[in-house]
Amino acid sequence: MPTYVTTPIYYVNAMPHLGHAYTTIVADTYSRFRRLCGDAVRFQTGTDEHGEKIAEAAARAGEDPRVYVDRVAAAFRKTWPLLSVDPDYFIRTTDANHIQTVQDILQQVYDAGDIYFSEYSGLYCRGCERFLTEKELVDGKCPDHLVEPSPITEQNYFFRMSKYQDWLIDHIKTNPDFITPERYRNEVLSFLSDPLEDLCISRPTSRLTWGIPLPFDTDFVTYVWFDALINYLTGIGYPDGPDFNTCWAVAEHVIAKDILKPHAVYWPTMLRAMGLRPYQRLHVHGYWNVDATKMSKSLGNVVRPKELVDTFGVNTLRYFVLREMSFGLDASFSGDAIQARHNADLANDLGNLFSRSLAMIDRYTCGQVPEREAGTITPDDRALMSAFTATVIDYRESMDGFRFHKALQAVWEVIGLLNRYIVTNAPWEMAKNPRQADRLRTVLYFLAESLWKVAVLLRPVMPDAARKMAAALGMERQFRNITLDDLQRWGEVPPGTVIDKGAQLFPRVEKKVEISAAAPVKQPPAASAPAESTEGLISFDQFQAVDLRVAEIVAAEKVAKSKRLLKLTVRAPEERTVVAGIAEFYAPETLIGQRVLLVANLKPAKLMGIASQGMLLAAKEEQADGTERLVLATVAAPVAVGSRVA
Ligand code: MSP
Repeated sequence: MPTYVTTPIYYVNAMPHLGHAYTTIVADTYSRFRRLCGDAVRFQTGTDEHGEKIAEAAARAGEDPRVYVDRVAAAFRKTWPLLSVDPDYFIRTTDANHIQTVQDILQQVYDAGDIYFSEYSGLYCRGCERFLTEKELVDGKCPDHLVEPSPITEQNYFFRMSKYQDWLIDHIKTNPDFITPERYRNEVLSFLSDPLEDLCISRPTSRLTWGIPLPFDTDFVTYVWFDALINYLTGIGYPDGPDFNTCWAVAEHVIAKDILKPHAVYWPTMLRAMGLRPYQRLHVHGYWNVDATKMSKSLGNVVRPKELVDTFGVNTLRYFVLREMSFGLDASFSGDAIQARHNADLANDLGNLFSRSLAMIDRYTCGQVPEREAGTITPDDRALMSAFTATVIDYRESMDGFRFHKALQAVWEVIGLLNRYIVTNAPWEMAKNPRQADRLRTVLYFLAESLWKVAVLLRPVMPDAARKMAAALGMERQFRNITLDDLQRWGEVPPGTVIDKGAQLFPRVEKKVEISAAAPVKQPPAASAPAESTEGLISFDQFQAVDLRVAEIVAAEKVAKSKRLLKLTVRAPEERTVVAGIAEFYAPETLIGQRVLLVANLKPAKLMGIASQGMLLAAKEEQADGTERLVLATVAAPVAVGSRVA
């Protein structure tokens, strides 16, 4: 069976964070799982680039919306390979073919009489980009954005969503898999137990121009959700692309609970009005919180996936999020939790099993996978074989049902069994006794073949580590064409295969890791704080305590074995050494003679063994790919060296 897997298209008003990474890793893992089952898969992600939020973000950045969306969309596109995420198609709502498709659909639905013009008064939440009902408010505020929605009266175009309410209820009831897990299906049915209102699908150009013009009235642009949801069709060539029919029949959307209503109510009714069948399945997950607090820019606790990859590697990040979150429920991220999983599950359980087994094959059978010796198979081996049979079944069911944590639990049970298999069989003892040579070969054979099976099972979750395991087992070629069914056979690793015992999969991370989110979170001023609260501000005296001086760089060289550091000699006016983390941005020779700003009274610190007596000021600019560029602060006109900056 083919499948078509999608993520939400992400708003380009924020850089990619752990939440975006999670959904996208889930969709990628599921796609890889289905490919492992032998299925043809199309996997799509992308960016949502129109609407008020984006126009405002561009204005805040002082950029033309088009320049702004190009920059942030590029950051999303560049993030996915870092996470071993490999979509077949990346869609942007500013793509010309998408705009055309949205306009064609609007015209079609309008011509069919399901779009009409009317006046509307309602409570509008800018964060959600939709009108909220009184019932949805908590203490008069939007529960997601914690702001009071604004009352708006406007003439607009409406989609006759209410017309499809009964059909939708019936469809959800007769297709139990349509929305999963069940709690979200129930939530939608409960919402649909009240009369459904029609959906406002336009915004007047007097209020918003950054959107797709309605084809039948250019004084209006399309509401961002009507535009965005259609991406799922555009990406597969709707209406007449060669893959459209095959893909649409098997579409599976992955989203978080925040956008349940647009996906479970607006979208199926829109499809119905277009004369198309609904998607096949909607998979809804919970929210990642950070140290049990909601992740948000204003709290300064946003977790960036790149930072996690830099510290733990991509395999650990993927494993962690899939193992730690029960799909459908909320989960809490912390630096300690990912470090614990890395060291316990990956470095100890899996990594040690792998390196021990390969080391024994290297030592006892000259680095080649031995033959199973007839007559030496024990009940222990049979138990191992039947454990694998059960694990593969369990794994398939769990992965297919989006219960990734369960699938991984099953794999780790078999890893535990293998670690015990080594202890009970004690191959090092057999190696001392020539009469046990045949049994030793059988044990090592079972270990090699079991590791191969584990590598294959982990391929959807940790494609990179699994490939390394396969390569170390001399099975890289077979790895490309294997299917899950093949795992039910034994004897797949040919005796004589040469292994490479050198591979170290998961080096332990010992030192305590500070993920930026784990840094103390600045509390917003308490509601009762007086208006003139000075919390977070410093006094003039405190500022004066910093001795800032104009300094001239007189010598500069790279610090050996460091990519980041330069050793500088500066005059202010006395000479001193300063080590600065700017090697990636400045060639040493270009710095000689530059006048820069020095923090002259900083306590000396040793960096790579060099005592640094001060610090240079530099601006940190966030780049589209989430990295930072450093630019040294200087003075606008020549100033005497040693002058105070205040
Ligand atoms: N542009 C719309 C979606 C249109 S789809 C036709 C949108 N974009 S978004 O950038 O806000 O992304 C929302 C999605 O990002 C969530 O549904 C989820 O997939 C992911 N996440 C964002 N924050 C998250 C968490 N804290 N935890 C888990 N996932 C979350 O809505």
